Amino acid sequence: MAMCGIIGYVGWRRSAQVLMEGLERLEYRGYDSAGLAWFEGDRVQRVRAVGNLASLRTALHDKRRLSSAALAERRLAGNPTGGATATLERQLGIGHTRWATHGAVTERNAHPHVDARGRVWIVLNGIIENHLELRARLARRGIACDSETDAEVVAQMLGLMYTGDLAQTVAETMHLFQGQYALVAMASEEPDLLVAVRQGAPLTIGIGQGEQFIASSIAAFLPHTREVAVPQDGEIAVLRADEVVLLDAAGEAHPPSVTSAGWDPERIEKDGYETFMLKEIHEQGAAVRATVQSAMAQIQDAARTVLSTQRIAALERVIVVACGTSYHAGLAGKLALERWARVPVEVDVASEFRYRDPILNQNTLVVAITQSGETADTLAAMRLARAHGAPVLVITNAPGSQATRDADGVLFTQAGIEMGVAATKTFVAQVAMLYMVALQVATVRRRLPSEMVGWLAEELQSLGDRIDELIATVDEPVATLARDLAGSQFFLYLGRLTGLPVALEGALKLKEISYVPTDAYAAGEMKHGPIALLSPQTPVICVATEVNVLPKLLANMAEVKARHAQVLAVAAEGFTEVNEYADHVVYVPRTDPLLEVLLAIVPLQLFAYHLARARSLSVDQPRNLAKTVTVE
Ligand code: G6P
Repeated sequence: MAMCGIIGYVGWRRSAQVLMEGLERLEYRGYDSAGLAWFEGDRVQRVRAVGNLASLRTALHDKRRLSSAALAERRLAGNPTGGATATLERQLGIGHTRWATHGAVTERNAHPHVDARGRVWIVLNGIIENHLELRARLARRGIACDSETDAEVVAQMLGLMYTGDLAQTVAETMHLFQGQYALVAMASEEPDLLVAVRQGAPLTIGIGQGEQFIASSIAAFLPHTREVAVPQDGEIAVLRADEVVLLDAAGEAHPPSVTSAGWDPERIEKDGYETFMLKEIHEQGAAVRATVQSAMAQIQDAARTVLSTQRIAALERVIVVACGTSYHAGLAGKLALERWARVPVEVDVASEFRYRDPILNQNTLVVAITQSGETADTLAAMRLARAHGAPVLVITNAPGSQATRDADGVLFTQAGIEMGVAATKTFVAQVAMLYMVALQVATVRRRLPSEMVGWLAEELQSLGDRIDELIATVDEPVATLARDLAGSQFFLYLGRLTGLPVALEGALKLKEISYVPTDAYAAGEMKHGPIALLSPQTPVICVATEVNVLPKLLANMAEVKARHAQVLAVAAEGFTEVNEYADHVVYVPRTDPLLEVLLAIVPLQLFAYHLARARSLSVDQPRNLAKTVTVE
């Protein structure tokens, strides 16, 4: 079983180089080993390496040195081309970054895999659920696998069934593979084509001039082409340098429907920032501005379906499902929908929701939040909701993603591509979009005076600029504080009401990228457990953004101080009382407390960032984490 990124190339550029660069652009998805296979003349070469892509580059370099030495030897023996007559026209290969879920991180388990006769090569993303059964079947035919992976089982099965026509073999064999996956295959006897298929996992084709790409994410090939096509589940894609054909279930061939990806190639570069994460933190103002600006038109569009006046009026309940950071955005969304629109809201992590036999009906709106649009648990939660007759609205940052195809309505956040594994700008964009939805529901259900709706909408519109200003003023002091505290062993985060999602998300950011243990609690719960953890060595970060509960939070801060722990606070401007209890305070502009979520999170993201950098960690690709989790 494996994820996380696959790529294929056919065309005129040096394939090993194109694949290597593509894998580098997929790095953000998280991985622990990687590999490539490509044609060099008539032969398929393969390199695989455990660890980062620098190790794979070294392996590639060594392989190249060896093969040029072999070529030189063949030349000396009187064969000037070394047998490799067609090197120039055969530029074809596949590559993979693997994030182990089971099967150790070893070179042998790394992709690409090849069948026992060396004919069919594949890279696979996802899970083949019945791989043990298939492995036993292969064993009965005398075929033993070389690795522990389900991907090799697929390679062996395709090799066994190979007819000399790879597209036909994949079409006839894929019914054997149960699970959610995407694969790209090539055959040593057909050096001019790639065959690919997806079944519930992401796969996008990039159409170029005399060259074609295919990958788990368009990021892999964006510098080369923005013309993209997404095959349907089960459709077989056949890529040749000058043509792409899709074969449907009946074996009918048709051309792909091509669209232009809106993301700018240069925007996925770092623009002079030292990391993607820092760049993306700085892009949060723009992400909120663009999302708020586009929201009204999108919500009007959704008014034809999931957000129609009738549906909103009949709404009994909203259930938000999401994972990770998106779940935290959902917690803020709940507070907005309940406060402004007076609709009861539940928020659940998708992996729990899908197994808890939830109570759903057509008057329950399920809102799925997923920046990638591909998270396996969130997709499963959406399917479950629809199967029970509940309409599903998805909020995502990824056009063309699976979630957009599975939902009744879609709202796109406008954060642009996010490369850092730890979500930042997609979070603020999700919260902004949820607030716009909450305002719409409040308006339709007449739960807020129109002047209030107008004021909140205006505040939301100006929030992007305030985020920009905030970053400019707090980055330096927060960085200093983070460097001072970089040796701490544990951080506790506390917040109440709107401060709670901020505390949870701030704590998640710190543990994700700095590997320092953190916990986050509703401040009122502190005395029921976490207080036992406090000592003079424990920094406690308090989020003070709600005036109603400010005296309560101040009392919690006093309890922390009494244990001689260090108190750091993020507070709304004007809450000067906080100074009395906190060792350091970072103030954020005062607005509606719900809107302050989008401001208060910024210093905590910067804090996590600078602390991880002070520990010399690779913030864009933290260990063990993946950007897009396409397995359960
Ligand atoms: C992974 C990512 C997180 C993200 C979560 C949910 O764990 O590392 O940054 O919040 O998945 O992803 P989604 O794409 O569904 O928002």
